[in-house]
Amino acid sequence: MGSVFVTRAVPGDALDRLAEAGHSVDLWSGELPPPAADLVAHLATADAALAMVTDRIDAQAIAASPSLKVISNMAVGYDNVDPAVAADAGVWLTNTPGVLAETTADLAFALLMAAARQVARGDRDARAGLWKTWSPTGYLGTDIHGATLGIVGLGEIGEAMARRGRGFGMRILYASRTRKPAVEAAIGAEFTSLDGLLEVADFVSLHMPLTPVTRGLIGARELSLMKSTAILVNTARGTVIDQAALVHALRAATIAAAALDVTDPEPLPASHELFSFPNVVITPHIASASLATRSRMARMAAANIVEVLAGRKPINPVNAPAMPRMPLT
Ligand code: DGY
Repeated sequence: MGSVFVTRAVPGDALDRLAEAGHSVDLWSGELPPPAADLVAHLATADAALAMVTDRIDAQAIAASPSLKVISNMAVGYDNVDPAVAADAGVWLTNTPGVLAETTADLAFALLMAAARQVARGDRDARAGLWKTWSPTGYLGTDIHGATLGIVGLGEIGEAMARRGRGFGMRILYASRTRKPAVEAAIGAEFTSLDGLLEVADFVSLHMPLTPVTRGLIGARELSLMKSTAILVNTARGTVIDQAALVHALRAATIAAAALDVTDPEPLPASHELFSFPNVVITPHIASASLATRSRMARMAAANIVEVLAGRKPINPVNAPAMPRMPLT
């Protein structure tokens, strides 16, 4: 049967599922992603790849992999592969929608709360022996209840974030490519323009995919529209924000704080200026990182491979090759 290159160890029973379907697994056991040359070398003989967002699989790598039929990303995002390039080469590209929305929104809301209430700073200070007394003026944060949450990108993760905001008694604004009347009716979210949202929101949470349109969407102009008391939360992709403009806004205190699960680059070097701001919370791209969710993502990624290698259409395609490469016989 097929040979599947799995670019990192994954939780759960996904690899067993591949084996049960008769496929051999070539597992990259390194803690870090395979370097580009190793990725190309392993893909060259693979029928399928179970890949991560950290694996940039470009046109050259695809062209050098004659038997590759599917790149199954263990992620909802797929900006590490160009879907059209893969389709042109007859290779399916798949993702893992749905299963990680709630877990990702959990972390986005945790970041929002951490930034609003100085959780990370308080923890750092307590550990460092800087907790001297209860102070009536210390660590004054921002109330979450009653505040306005602005959601940019109302896909499944944005909607899950909106529900959390509603549960905390927040007013919900959203800016999105398409209007979502059902979400408006269900949770009272209000549709607005991006500029309108930035001007009004106390918290701006980003949930759009990275595309040529969203790259750098939050730049100097957009940051300047935000209230000086507002907090920016990003669990989408680092490059949807112009990071130099964000540093500038934080230096000039034209926004109050930022909470980032994604940065540009990743990992962010420890010497980066963003780490110097006490009002910035940074986590290492962990929004989907619960054991249950990552296990579901891996299983879903494996299921897409099993379908393609059996000559069927994958369950979660994000492209449509006109001439898919021949299934296994
Ligand atoms: C995704 O799914 O796109 C995340 O960024 C990785 O969990």
